[in-house]
Amino acid sequence: MSIITDDNKLPKRVDINQKNPNTKAEKIDYDRNFENSIRPKSFDTYIGQSALKETLKITIEAAKKREKPLDHLLFYGPPGLGKTTLAGVIAQQMGVEIKITSAPALERPRDIIGILMSLKGGEILFIDEIHRLNKVAEEILYPAMEDFFLDMTTGKSQTVKTLRVPLPKFTLIGATTKAGELSGPLRDRFGIIHRLEFYTEEELSQVIKRTAGILEIEITTDGALAIARRSRGTPRIANRLIKRVSDYALVKADGKINEEIANQALDTLKIDCYGLDSTDRSLLKMIIEKYDGGPVGIETLAAALGEDVRTLEDVCEPFLLQAGLLQRTPRGRKVTPATYRHLGYTNIIEQQNLF
Ligand code: ADE
Repeated sequence: MSIITDDNKLPKRVDINQKNPNTKAEKIDYDRNFENSIRPKSFDTYIGQSALKETLKITIEAAKKREKPLDHLLFYGPPGLGKTTLAGVIAQQMGVEIKITSAPALERPRDIIGILMSLKGGEILFIDEIHRLNKVAEEILYPAMEDFFLDMTTGKSQTVKTLRVPLPKFTLIGATTKAGELSGPLRDRFGIIHRLEFYTEEELSQVIKRTAGILEIEITTDGALAIARRSRGTPRIANRLIKRVSDYALVKADGKINEEIANQALDTLKIDCYGLDSTDRSLLKMIIEKYDGGPVGIETLAAALGEDVRTLEDVCEPFLLQAGLLQRTPRGRKVTPATYRHLGYTNIIEQQNLF
């Protein structure tokens, strides 16, 4: 089987049968280890986002020619589309180290100061969920990003002095699912701001084949496409589904994945032809059955479903909006005629003359 990778740092085989996680923390660790083990490390193996890749290649080439660090970059878009992966590819391409953190981990001033002072010239600092950075950390970042200085204060009240501590020239890569929540001054300090797009089925099936190659799972082109169709345009979901489908193939057949096995496995997992899972369907059904199709506020929905508002907004909604199954209005969320059709509410369509 051909493994489409030039990533010589990747382990040749990843044990997908490693002990299943029990606790939530174990599960997060397990998912993160799995994701890290299959992350592409170069532009050649990074599939999709072609316009962004071309821009980045030129920017990187120019920075190398000038022998200067890259401009600060901001990536935004729904989760699971490869923002962290892309930051890793950029670091590899620039030949520099990358330090990865996330805004909630930078709670105290000393967290951000410590990490900035640990950077070496040219290195990349990646801050995930950068919209969650607190005001103090943001203000420490402004001079660091703009002039590569830390403004430190010493002493108390009347004797207070400001000290400018020079920092090495670094590149900040910020990632966010909510670009709108970033403050204007922080957004303005990024030289390149780019949105990551959902993947096409063709791109996702390439991601699936690549992952299958690394995991030594046999899969046909049709099998990969069947998984891709139900992966909500998101590589992280595609990579999770391939493991579940592979388990199913191993138990119910000979371990090989073809279209039929993939569809059977995904039906068993209750993932429908749009890639919606039970949480998505509960959200949409709730709007239809309890709120007459909407509009209804997201807080009301979250409370009724027993879900976190952030999970609904960041994880469920982006794909439902893009698929035309949900609309955001000033008065709340609404479903569309396509939602009624998809979920089989044909009687309501007839009653309300939705077509
Ligand atoms: N795995 C996750 N994202 C990927 C991508 N963009 N290309 C290849 N493999 C991936």
